[in-house]
Amino acid sequence: MKQDLTETILKYGSHIIASEIFQSGYRQPHHLVMTVSDHSMDVTIMSVRMSQILDRLHIRINQKQVVEGALCHDLGILGRDQKFQNNRECCALHPVLSVEEAKKLIPDLDSNTEQIIRRHMWPATALTLPPKSKEALIVMLADKYSAIRELVSIFIGPEFKKNLRRRIRQNVSVPA
Ligand SMILES: [Fe+2]
Ligand SMILES: [Fe+2]
Repeated sequence: MKQDLTETILKYGSHIIASEIFQSGYRQPHHLVMTVSDHSMDVTIMSVRMSQILDRLHIRINQKQVVEGALCHDLGILGRDQKFQNNRECCALHPVLSVEEAKKLIPDLDSNTEQIIRRHMWPATALTLPPKSKEALIVMLADKYSAIRELVSIFIGPEFKKNLRRRIRQNVSVPA
């Protein structure tokens, strides 16, 4: 399964991963603990894994669209300090810019892959429509899961959680 995951991502995404823009994403921090491209790779791995599980349930997923969409979903965020006035603007506009960057890497970008990228921020911004395809839904969920996991890990590491559990437990009075 792991081998299959690697093969699928390389089959449909190696030209994206090798591109200058994707490689530059390894130099831009993201969610404080990641880089943009490490995050995009995680989203891609998780999206393909979800697709494989659904496939076993006979729910057919287009893996090419999932890989291309997941790898490209945050390309528009690169250079964020120069492009956007604030976080709100970045959240709302980077999917649109990601589509533009994806079209440079995939000249025949199909409409569903475009939707995956354009709608991945739903429901975080009012400008974004909800995902309507299975593939767009998968990448949107994988992106949320990855982002939340990355952000939570900053504030709630294993030691912090252990101490928190102990403090809460100590402060609860258990009836005799
Ligand atoms: Fe994003
Ligand atoms: Fe993302």
